[in-house]
Amino acid sequence: MPRKPFIAGNWKMNKTIAEGVALANELKGLVAGIDDVDIAVCPTFVALAKVGEVIEHSNIMLGGQNTFWKESGAWTSQISPQMLADAGCSWVIVGHSETRGRFGTVDDELEGVLSYFGDNDTTVNMKAKYAFASGLLPIIACGELLSEREAGKTDEIIAAQMNVCLDGFTKEQAMKMVIAYEPVWAIGTGQVCDSDEADRVCGLIRGIVKEMYGEDVAEAVRIQYGGSVNDKNAAELLSKPNIDGALVGGAALKADAFATIIKSAK
Ligand code: PGA
Repeated sequence: MPRKPFIAGNWKMNKTIAEGVALANELKGLVAGIDDVDIAVCPTFVALAKVGEVIEHSNIMLGGQNTFWKESGAWTSQISPQMLADAGCSWVIVGHSETRGRFGTVDDELEGVLSYFGDNDTTVNMKAKYAFASGLLPIIACGELLSEREAGKTDEIIAAQMNVCLDGFTKEQAMKMVIAYEPVWAIGTGQVCDSDEADRVCGLIRGIVKEMYGEDVAEAVRIQYGGSVNDKNAAELLSKPNIDGALVGGAALKADAFATIIKSAK
């Protein structure tokens, strides 16, 4: 079975609620009727519910940009998957490079001291597992730093991230999860990864999934590329056999550019 392309827009810390509603309305009109590409937008937490109302009953799904691995409690600033689902989300991004490596720590009874708004591979794995357990589907992000790429360590870094981030799912979950390969140096820089190289790393990730979960899961799992995807370069990236979609930042903030990216995945 061919994999259905999946284009997700990560709005990051952009758009007021009113602006997000306007963007969602415009996008909804531009992509109406497209049913051979999965489409999601991931607004800020505060805009989720209102944007969710706009796209309810449309072909656009809603996602959160991050989550936590508890349902509720004294975890100031955190948002649970249950809360995301309540706001209308069906997806959540975990392990985006912008949530890895900053701010607080937590002493987890099982895992010891972990940083949380400074995700590491273990917390990313915990978030993805808890998202599944709460009825959401995770987009699990990974990617190497420029210094790691320049040192020739890309494959090693990606394998190390994937071995921890993807550990311990059921086969059924592993088939439904989405992995986003986002080289950190390509994010928001305009410096898109060469399409053959992006395809090669996505293929490497697929190989790791195969080792962990078997051929059927590796054939089913969708792997997105992210990092300076725009309406000009999307078609080339999405034509590659191992690239099943895109996680789009800046270009997802303009309805026409994002709609062009979605249409180029068809
Ligand atoms: P960008 O961001 O498209 O602005 O490079 C992608 C991302 O961070 O998901």
